[in-house]
Amino acid sequence: MASKHNGARILGIESSCDETAAAVVVDGRRILSSVVASQIDIHRKYGGVVPELASREHSRQIVPVVREAMEQAALSLEDLDAIGVTQGPGLVGSLLVGITYGKTLAHALGKPLIAVNHLEGHIHAAFLEAHESGELPRLPAVCLIVSGGHTVLYEVRVSDSSRVPHMPVLHVGSSSQDDPPSSLGFSYRKLGQTRDDAAGEAYDKVAKLLGLGYPGGPILDRLATAAKHAPAPVKFGPTKTRGNPLDFSFSGLKTAVLYHLREHPEYNGEIRNREEALHAGRRKFEELLPLCGEQTLGLVREFQNAVVRDLLERTMASAEECSVETILVSGGVAANSQLRATFEQRAASAGLKVFFPSRNLSTDNAAMIAAAAYPRYVQNQFADVTLNAKASMPLESNQ
Ligand code: KG4
Ligand code: ZN
Repeated sequence: MASKHNGARILGIESSCDETAAAVVVDGRRILSSVVASQIDIHRKYGGVVPELASREHSRQIVPVVREAMEQAALSLEDLDAIGVTQGPGLVGSLLVGITYGKTLAHALGKPLIAVNHLEGHIHAAFLEAHESGELPRLPAVCLIVSGGHTVLYEVRVSDSSRVPHMPVLHVGSSSQDDPPSSLGFSYRKLGQTRDDAAGEAYDKVAKLLGLGYPGGPILDRLATAAKHAPAPVKFGPTKTRGNPLDFSFSGLKTAVLYHLREHPEYNGEIRNREEALHAGRRKFEELLPLCGEQTLGLVREFQNAVVRDLLERTMASAEECSVETILVSGGVAANSQLRATFEQRAASAGLKVFFPSRNLSTDNAAMIAAAAYPRYVQNQFADVTLNAKASMPLESNQ
């Protein structure tokens, strides 16, 4: 086994939703391989993830995906130091496939098994990218996790309780290559979350209403960019939430789009044309753009403006409230081009640094799971054969 703090090769396994993923990451920071088998083609015709189909597909994919991750890393299973697996939150039937496989592998190889919270994985994704670029986020930070299943804001600090005797104390903000904050483990405080739909879910539902296919985020992102000069057919005001001002809500916006479409039957012909195109397998941006009139493009842009504005304003407010210098943004919607550009601009003018994972590490992957497993590996926080899936799993410092 590699020394605890040097050269630890961890296999990460992720199967919480509709991606079967495996990756090998060294010391929580150097990615040797990252393989993601997407199930989008299977769920597309239902307009969302069908849990039974997802777990069946995970069962089919898990062995070849892990094998490919090992091949790409040019390692054999015996070379691994530990196996990290997503325990939750997510679809229980899907999680169980990864957990059962991870447990079996760990037992057969005599290697430690580490349970990982999927949300903690998304936070580590921002650090993974930063390691590659050589610039590490200073802590404390606020982290926005924004995906198809989650929209949540956390304050992230280096966890005091995670410090281990043989590891030097981290000077917060140090970018020492030996002791980056991500190897020490974090503590979390939830600042706000969505009261209803996640932001990615709103993208997916609005795309469905407009006959633009599934998943909705990538296509709406590109159409909104193409809509630069289209007139606005409607304006969506900021969403107000009673109680915690850092909570989000996206179902009202989705309903506003629905009502707007109902009140304007002139959208219907176009929507039908696009649905026919999708049915015939023409779902690429280049194929759908000519089927979108100015009014549709303007509507998509206004929808995206509203989502990005709400995500940005609450995240900036939380950064101010917590007096942090760093913002982390992770999850599938963090791939959004307008979100990235707007956050960069606002953060720069407020004197803050914002970190995003690359697009591949923003959406679900297993490199982030292997990275999040590393501090637990260093601290000997191992799971045993009783490890079970958790559909909901709050993010706490020492799970
Ligand atoms: O993190 P992820 O892969 O899976 C979940 O944990 O949900 O996120 C998938 C979500 C989908 O809702 C998808 O529409 C959204 O992320 N998404 C985007 C973009 N790319 C993916 N949303 C907005 N803009 C994008 N470019
Ligand atoms: Zn996710």
